[in-house]
Amino acid sequence: MIKDVEDKAVGEKRVLLERVELEDPGDLKGYEALGGFTGLDKAHEMSPEAVIETVKDSGLRGRGGAGFPCGVKWELARQSPNPDKVLILNADEGEVGTFKDRYILEHNPYMVLEGMAIGAYAIGADKGYIYLRDEYHYLLTSLEKAVSECKEEGYLNDLEVEIVEGAGAYICGEESALMNSIEGKRGESRYRPPFPPEKGLFEQPTIINNVETLSNVPLIVEKGAEWYAALGTEKSKGTKLFCVSGDVKRPGVYELELGTSLKEVMGLSGAESPKWVQVGGSTGRLIPSDRLDTALSYEGVLGSGAVMVSNGTRDVIEFVYRTLEFLNEESCGKCAPCREGTEVLVEILGRLTQGEGSEQDLINLETLSEVMMDASLCGLGQTAPIPVLDSLRYFREVYEARIEQSLYLRGLRTVKA
Ligand SMILES: Cc1cc2nc3c(=O)[nH]c(=O)nc-3n(C[C@H](O)[C@H](O)[C@H](O)COP(=O)(O)O)c2cc1C
Repeated sequence: MIKDVEDKAVGEKRVLLERVELEDPGDLKGYEALGGFTGLDKAHEMSPEAVIETVKDSGLRGRGGAGFPCGVKWELARQSPNPDKVLILNADEGEVGTFKDRYILEHNPYMVLEGMAIGAYAIGADKGYIYLRDEYHYLLTSLEKAVSECKEEGYLNDLEVEIVEGAGAYICGEESALMNSIEGKRGESRYRPPFPPEKGLFEQPTIINNVETLSNVPLIVEKGAEWYAALGTEKSKGTKLFCVSGDVKRPGVYELELGTSLKEVMGLSGAESPKWVQVGGSTGRLIPSDRLDTALSYEGVLGSGAVMVSNGTRDVIEFVYRTLEFLNEESCGKCAPCREGTEVLVEILGRLTQGEGSEQDLINLETLSEVMMDASLCGLGQTAPIPVLDSLRYFREVYEARIEQSLYLRGLRTVKA
């Protein structure tokens, strides 16, 4: 049984989803009836600086994975002397096990457009882009309709919104590669500084925000920073959409207050004897079953909001190997630590899965991981080793037993492990 739109689970805190789940996703009037665009009206009664202050006070942090404070980023762009500012909605959602942005765009494209309109007003942008992942092509028509309706109703003011479709590369969700992609260049990460709020798309001051981040903004402006900041924990305010998948009875999108424990999510989704949970997507942390009291928050573990559950029928080495295969395939190749590092991690992990590894391989995995995390150009290479290191930290005995067994089978050990 898949958790359905209306299936509110006990323990959920529906703030965003109450507004997102329109009966008819193509019904602008339906959104207005739910209170849609009240936040935008209120924003227009405030100065742009006051809107930014409200978003800062709310404590809203980026929901795309990095968790950068949204209002702080907006302020940097607002303060740039260059008047040609740009706002980009990151709807690439290429992260493994992540499907919350799709859920928002499918159920209510108006809410995120309202968030874009408020963001553009706050930073002073008159050009907006929606970067839509290639696999979400089926959403293009409904998004185009929503954009033109909002324009006709005057909700976008002077903001001209252009939809750009990606070409299926995971790296193009990374903000600097995304800008290269829109510019028609190869989808590779850029060196920073300069950071996008200073010099981004076509060298203009640019804000890139995730779909879920901007969808929170109308509610924050309408109901106030205090209301929002009362939800969540000290450093992780508000609610978050979690995408639960894997060995659970009820996979789906759950809205929970930040700070909720993984254990609670296991209960809500009917997880079947989890052995480990990967939180945050392919580069996310691996949490073993004896640490399920870990909080889902920026202080604990979070990332994109993917919660992928594995039970004892899965092999952790194989799982990490497949994950690294994906990351190696998707590395843009611009920097050597990521390009070569993911290649070598895959080679070693492959050897280990096939029972041909050695103890030295475990040491090499750790040393290489440290170098990649220090020396890679962008978040992909910097975080790709996380599942490798976590699996070695929590499941080292599985690796060691596999090595012992393989040495015995190859006649290099005389005693069976
Ligand atoms: C390899 C990689 C892929 C990423 N993919 C996405 C993505 O699909 N969607 C997204 O919103 N952020 C993604 N990010 C994070 C973005 O670079 C950026 O931090 C985010 O869009 C900023 O928006 P936010 O502050 O609202 O989270 C990715 C980062 C990396 C390193």
